[in-house]
Amino acid sequence: MCEPEPEAEPVARRLAEAGQPEVLRFWGQLTAEERRTLAATLQQLEPTELRAHCQAAVRARTPSQAPLPRLMEPLPEEAIGSVIRAEAQTLKRWQERGFHAISQNHVAVLLLAGGQGTRLGVSYPKGMYDVGLPSGKTLYQIQAERIRKVQQLAEERLGKKCTVPWYIMTSEFTLEPTEKFFEQHDYFSLAKSNVVMFEQRMLPAVSFDGKIILEQKGKIAMAPDGNGGLYRALTSNKILEDMDRRGVRFVHVYCVDNILVKMADPVFIGFCVEKEADCGAKVVGKAYPTEPVGVVCRVDGIYQVVEYSEVSQETVEQRNADGQLTFNAGNICNHFFTVEFLKSVTEEFEPKLKSHVAVKKIPHVDEQGNSVRPETPNGIKMEKFVFDVFQFSKKFVVFEVLREDEFSPLKNADSAGSKDTPTTARRALLWQHYCWAVRAGAHFLDSKNNRISPQSQFQETEEPPAVCEISPLVSCEGEGLEAYLKDRDFHLPLLLTETAAAALGKGQGQ
Ligand code: UTP
Repeated sequence: MCEPEPEAEPVARRLAEAGQPEVLRFWGQLTAEERRTLAATLQQLEPTELRAHCQAAVRARTPSQAPLPRLMEPLPEEAIGSVIRAEAQTLKRWQERGFHAISQNHVAVLLLAGGQGTRLGVSYPKGMYDVGLPSGKTLYQIQAERIRKVQQLAEERLGKKCTVPWYIMTSEFTLEPTEKFFEQHDYFSLAKSNVVMFEQRMLPAVSFDGKIILEQKGKIAMAPDGNGGLYRALTSNKILEDMDRRGVRFVHVYCVDNILVKMADPVFIGFCVEKEADCGAKVVGKAYPTEPVGVVCRVDGIYQVVEYSEVSQETVEQRNADGQLTFNAGNICNHFFTVEFLKSVTEEFEPKLKSHVAVKKIPHVDEQGNSVRPETPNGIKMEKFVFDVFQFSKKFVVFEVLREDEFSPLKNADSAGSKDTPTTARRALLWQHYCWAVRAGAHFLDSKNNRISPQSQFQETEEPPAVCEISPLVSCEGEGLEAYLKDRDFHLPLLLTETAAAALGKGQGQ
């Protein structure tokens, strides 16, 4: 039986209460289905909240006061751990601690995958993107295989079967295609019950005069509420209860677009656990002083990420006595949270999180109902940021890692330039695998069967001397490769899958 058509009156009443009666201006021209969809969208938006959202968007775009001068300080030494500076023994201790937590089923990973990926410009979720690796693997597949491997390594070390559940925050844009993609790929051999997808909230885009923007006559322009929408989404989807049921105590949160992300990194987890931190962030040194990345630091004594645009040139260029940049801790959206901390955020602090303004070009309909693609920004989207919770932490730590080992985000299309593109992401991964292979004793042959002289220094703008891709199921961080590669010659490209590795392993034993 067909659903009854919604009446205009109750919908209009809610919109009047929200101060947005114009949203219904094309109601008379809508089909029954369009009316139903519009009414359903509006049903999810509380009139008072909607009114406050539109007013806040306008206010936030035009701040009435100049910002107060703030005291920006670098991170105190005691809050920092470093893969670069720590001794091998210390790293090993952190790693063991991390593996121990994983083996006890205390660790989960949580992927932020609700973004629209507008800069990359594809019509499907970014996690489904294939950057052109020899294997053709997508970001989702690479991440899934890294989870399987870290579970396997923990099991081997501690002799105990374990699970690292994978929580995936999606949005209206990404949920359905992501679900379908995982179904099609049989969850990349993970148990479906250990992959928990949930949806974040969407908020209307608002015009500069505080009116909800209509994308079509019967459709509001909606956008996800930022990666800081995580905290609300954890509550509305009862995710922390699910974590409690599974005995999860520590959560590794990360972005979908970093092709080098270390899933549930045992060293990072172990460091945070040893420091008894409730909140932690991985950082990398800035590539150059004016690199437009957020920097983790303290402002008026409070830990936070300060955006590049908020800092004076002088501060950006400031250096310590040893010549290092004073504000050098680049945020890579790779966080550690205890479940207890996440509970305190969702129960107490979430409403205090700041909303950030993004001024965007938002397709809309004009007064006659014609579609318009604006050439200049015409509207405001409001977003919360995942890192804005650092201020609520009782014990906050940062963990410095090497960029070439851990950070290469996919943000832009190749056509948009040379930074953070499919090409740079593919190159970063292939360089990493090439370096692992060379370190493990592999030799690569050119088309004339001559050995290619090895090179161990990553060159961001060049392809590696040999194309070599290693499945995460064979090696997570370059470990254990000697058994397959040492003193062997390989034609290009080398694709070290589990099957290829097994054959090579057998060959060696003969
Ligand atoms: P970005 O800020 O890079 O946004 O997200 P994006 O959506 O991927 O790309 P653009 O800006 O539209 O081009 C950083 C991470 O936060 C997630 C993204 O999926 C990505 O992993 N994110 C972003 C969310 O989960 N929800 C959001 O509302 C926004």
